[in-house]
Amino acid sequence: MTSPFAVSSPSPATIGLSLAAVGRERATVFDEHMGALVVLRHKDVSAALRDHGTFSTRFYAASPAVETMMITHDGAEHTRQRRIHNRFFSPGASARYAARIAPIAERTFGDLVGRERSDLIEDALARYPMEVFLDLLGIPNELGDQGLAWVRAIVAWLGSPMDEQLAAAGQAAFDELCGYAGTLIEAEVADPGDNLLGEIIRAHLTEGGFTVEACTVAVVSLLLGGLETTIQMLSATMSSLLLNPSALDRVRADRSLRDAALDESFRWANPSAGLYRLVTADTVVAGVPVGAGSMVYLCIASAHYDRDAYPDPEVFHLDRHASHLGFGLGPHYCVGAPLARIEVRAALDALLDRFPRLRLDPDQPLAFRYGARGFVQHGADTLPVLLS
Ligand code: HEM
Repeated sequence: MTSPFAVSSPSPATIGLSLAAVGRERATVFDEHMGALVVLRHKDVSAALRDHGTFSTRFYAASPAVETMMITHDGAEHTRQRRIHNRFFSPGASARYAARIAPIAERTFGDLVGRERSDLIEDALARYPMEVFLDLLGIPNELGDQGLAWVRAIVAWLGSPMDEQLAAAGQAAFDELCGYAGTLIEAEVADPGDNLLGEIIRAHLTEGGFTVEACTVAVVSLLLGGLETTIQMLSATMSSLLLNPSALDRVRADRSLRDAALDESFRWANPSAGLYRLVTADTVVAGVPVGAGSMVYLCIASAHYDRDAYPDPEVFHLDRHASHLGFGLGPHYCVGAPLARIEVRAALDALLDRFPRLRLDPDQPLAFRYGARGFVQHGADTLPVLLS
């Protein structure tokens, strides 16, 4: 049987539906290619994500690019770093970021006005989160596309750590990005501004533990965690709405539904398809014994189509009001989620205000696949639309 992970489909629902069908037969399946026990049911995936003592994120530290970042820590060190991060993503700070992001969305999507058709990903969605970071971090325009190139080289390396060519390019990009971020931070320290970089510096000074290195790690981890993921989330939201035109009409008419659209798109289109964990002590997962040192893959895509958690999971339902696992769960729940939500709200407003006839291009079918834009991500590589 072809692995559901290897299928390309015109519908983003296919991967979740086929994995959940396996999950109804058996709670776990060992995948040779992943080298991990794949956990399929919502209750088992959620329980493992909450139990960070047994199911650890420590394995991320195998990569030198990530080894010092918050995501690799458990317990007290994670709590300490998380307190600092929560400061610069506080509701007050986020409200200030929202005011800066709206004009960036208007500019990015405004550039499409006058065109008949577009690949929304290539022409706008893939540029927009970087534009947001450049502005929030106070990075001068002269950096151009270099920031994105660094991040892409590092993400490619993280996805295939054994590939020597990708490793060399990834390591070089990581060194250059850290060097650049360090210089920015040193310049900002003297006079922290009213932007994300200033907030990062202030948060470290307030909570203790300020060093240029600590702030550099925070900046680099935001770029690594918040670029390709945000592009994927934006494309999942837009493609879900375009594939469900009555939901799109409702959001167009009532913008208070933007978050419902984002959350249901996270469930239905599965931009985060799953998360790996390192098992730290002998345990039992869904009735299967798992030894310390093994890897498990907590399959969000199948959990999102588990009928016990979501009635009629194949239906894209704006009124579902159900939580999802797309930002993770438990202590490592995505710290950038408030910022990511602001980016989607602004993007939806900018697009829906400008393009009342926005629709999919019927001549260019969508193709959703696992591994698009990141090794645990799912999505389409292009999003061809008609604008006028
Ligand atoms: C502004 C954008 C974003 C930033 C700055 C960001 C940053 C981060 C950071 C630093 C963590 C680690 C949290 C911790 O260890 O406590 C994290 C976790 C996570 N983020 Fe985000 N993120 C962003 C957007 C997104 C988006 C759009 C998605 C999904 C498409 C996403 C999915 C996740 C997931 C699933 C985790 C948990 C990882 C795990 O438990 O292994 N993030 N994020």
